[in-house]
Amino acid sequence: MIEFYPQIKSIHIAMAITSGLIFALRGAGVLAGMRWPHWLPVRWTSYTVDTALLTAALMLLTMLPGAMFANGWLTVKLLLLVVYIVLGVFAIKRGRTRLAKAGFYVAALVTFGMVYSIARAHSPWGFLNAFLG
Ligand code: HEM
Repeated sequence: MIEFYPQIKSIHIAMAITSGLIFALRGAGVLAGMRWPHWLPVRWTSYTVDTALLTAALMLLTMLPGAMFANGWLTVKLLLLVVYIVLGVFAIKRGRTRLAKAGFYVAALVTFGMVYSIARAHSPWGFLNAFLG
């Protein structure tokens, strides 16, 4: 299985970027007062991409030695992932006003960026690592 590690990681990264793009587009559509972000095919595309993202993530997890997560980057990444999902739900659906949705949207995008940067840096601080000496 380990021989497929690079391919599975590529799928994980590609799905992560696709998932972020779909959310960015849907959120922008909601803020623009459009209806298509709630259409079933759009929602199912989003679920499918997220399922592929998670499946690839779990496959990577089973292949890596625990030592790779010793500094806690994966734990922080997963916690922020939960924060991102909650913010995303409020940005697309549950936010009461357009202003509230806009706030949740921006916060969700910032959180997504942090999840990405933590993954890239393999550090719980993500890109902030560069400023921490
Ligand atoms: C929005 C969600 C996610 C994003 C944006 C994301 C992003 C990334 C990126 C960019 C990498 C590549 C890091 C590198 O270049 O070295 C990566 C690797 C990885 N991710 Fe994710 N990921 C997400 C969700 C998850 C989840 C839910 C899990 C675990 C359940 C996970 C586990 C992993 C693992 C184990 C690696 C392999 C690290 C390596 O080989 O370097 N990811 N992720």
